[in-house]
Amino acid sequence: MKNLTGLVVSGSGVFVPSQTINNEEIVESFNTYVARFNRDHAAEIAAGTTKALLESSSAFIVKASGIKNRYVLDKTGILDPEVMCPRIPERPDGELSVMAEMAVAAAREAMAAAGKKPSEIDGVICSCAVMQRAYPAMAIEIQAALGSTGFAFDMSVGCASATYAIHVAKGLIESGGARAILICNPEILTGHANFRERDSHFLFGDACTAMIIERAETASGVNVWEIVSSKLKAQFSNNIRNNFGFLNRCAPEGIGKPDKLFVQQGRKVFKEVLPLVGHFMTEHLAENGLTATDIKRLWLHQANIHMNIFLAHKVLGHDPSPSEAPNVIDEYANTSSAGAIIAFNKHNADLATGDIGVLCTFGAGYSAGSVILRKLS
Ligand code: COA
Repeated sequence: MKNLTGLVVSGSGVFVPSQTINNEEIVESFNTYVARFNRDHAAEIAAGTTKALLESSSAFIVKASGIKNRYVLDKTGILDPEVMCPRIPERPDGELSVMAEMAVAAAREAMAAAGKKPSEIDGVICSCAVMQRAYPAMAIEIQAALGSTGFAFDMSVGCASATYAIHVAKGLIESGGARAILICNPEILTGHANFRERDSHFLFGDACTAMIIERAETASGVNVWEIVSSKLKAQFSNNIRNNFGFLNRCAPEGIGKPDKLFVQQGRKVFKEVLPLVGHFMTEHLAENGLTATDIKRLWLHQANIHMNIFLAHKVLGHDPSPSEAPNVIDEYANTSSAGAIIAFNKHNADLATGDIGVLCTFGAGYSAGSVILRKLS
């Protein structure tokens, strides 16, 4: 094995909201919406000018995705068939914003795990798929709330945001720009989910993860993972897309249309992303002189359980045991950038010094990031 960087992930943290929605609840809300739509449009449906909507089913959701539950900021709004959207009240500018609040909670856990004080963090990166606002950067608000100084900035690379941020943080520390960097991945994905769309209404949950990246010699945590190597990949695709943005008001006829929420061609994503990421992961391992037998664990992006079984099989050469590729998608659903870090956070303490694991995230863009980690302590 080559390329040991001397940099580590010295702590991680997870925040989830207190409310949960199970599949039965989300399907009941969706099917009530469908029944009302079909009743209200009965004449057009009979005339053939409008298509009747089809019901959803929890059996399909579990079978197609592995999802059974999701944590959410506002259950009531999402499940109300007249609303189907979380109600998250605007806060005065002087109050901590909701994304920053989630990030601070996850960050405090990560900092405690790494034994780091705010004064020892020189940079904050907020890296996630869906930002609450354009500016000021969420990361700067998080930095101020924690009482850290130095630099802070936001970045967004869809579901690959967390591994992209690790790669960037690593470069910043290597170049002498910081002693330790806090990465936060707050995701309020229920805010961009289309709960009226049968193909995707069940996919998302809300969560935030955080990690501390620093040099091995300054790390004092108990679960410290050396970054052996990190690698990024991108290849443009429209198959996962969201057209929401500040240009929407320049074309008001499009405001409120479904393309301003999450849209995906799930089958195409499956077909295109699996070979792309499978090849990317095996190439990254080979570049570092590693083979399947060297890998103790894969922490993969949590979008679909079948994708993860396929990718783990490709990398390991056999169907993975739950310990080799732990999935958290059943409990958390797709939390975009946070998903693989939740899997890492919940499933890394049991491994032994010297064990190697791979953190790999991928999604919209397409974008993918792979981080090979080796347990130090
Ligand atoms: N309830 C019941 N049936 C449903 C349904 C629902 N909510 N949604 C779709 N179906 C039906 C479809 O109509 C279709 O029926 P048909 O075979 O009679 O035409 C069938 O189930 C299969 O639909 P399909 O859309 O092909 O499902 P799928 O197996 O591809 O699963 C996803 C859908 C979204 C779970 C899956 O495509 C996926 O996870 N893709 C990758 C997502 C991803 O990784 N994204 C990354 C970035 S977030």
